[in-house]
Amino acid sequence: MAVTIRRLEGPDELESFDCGDEPLNNYLKRHAWTNQEKSSIGVTYVAIEESLPRIVLGYFTLATSSIPRDGLPKKHVRGLPPYDLPLVLLARLAVDRRFCGKGLGHALISEALKITLRVADEVGCRCVITDAYRDKVDWYARYGFIPIEGAAEIGPQKMFLDVRTLRAALQRR
Ligand SMILES: CC(C)(COP(=O)(O)OP(=O)(O)OC[C@H]1O[C@@H](n2cnc3c(N)ncnc32)[C@H](O)[C@@H]1OP(=O)(O)O)[C@@H](O)C(=O)NCCC(=O)NCCS
Repeated sequence: MAVTIRRLEGPDELESFDCGDEPLNNYLKRHAWTNQEKSSIGVTYVAIEESLPRIVLGYFTLATSSIPRDGLPKKHVRGLPPYDLPLVLLARLAVDRRFCGKGLGHALISEALKITLRVADEVGCRCVITDAYRDKVDWYARYGFIPIEGAAEIGPQKMFLDVRTLRAALQRR
């Protein structure tokens, strides 16, 4: 598959998208465009196949946020001032179930992490955070995300990835 990842555009076809999770389907169909274009509270990136350039195969949404310094493990905040730490929030990520297992999830998260590094270079941000479904924790861990201790035991698991870890991984390539 020749896949491109780009910003969500108005004419994109969203109604057929089905990742098997209603809140994630609903976000893309009902809120992603407004949040991006009108409210400026989240930018959505979509994976499309070149031969069907309006059909969304997968997406992720990024926003900025912050976390109290004590919200991250001590070894990741040593030496930092007692401010809330700026971060990139990976607010949503999903692949249409008809296209799962073909590397789209990998392509999407890799792009989200590249964008995070660019943001960190331009405006400063310490980490990327996501609220992972419990059954996806191992999937995010493959990319270096670490569960944040003390997060709620039910519902999503908050996970973070330090920007310094990301930079180091990029330099090793
Ligand atoms: C999680 C998700 C994005 C993965 O997308 P994908 O396109 O299937 O992922 P990829 O093809 O890049 O990767 C598949 C690999 O991840 C592994 N994998 C899939 N689900 C996994 C899980 N829950 N835990 C650990 N590994 C998992 C597969 O075994 C496969 O491994 P391999 O590369 O060694 O063969 C997709 O399953 C999805 O959208 N699910 C529904 C929505 C969702 O739950 N989003 C996450 C919200 S927190």
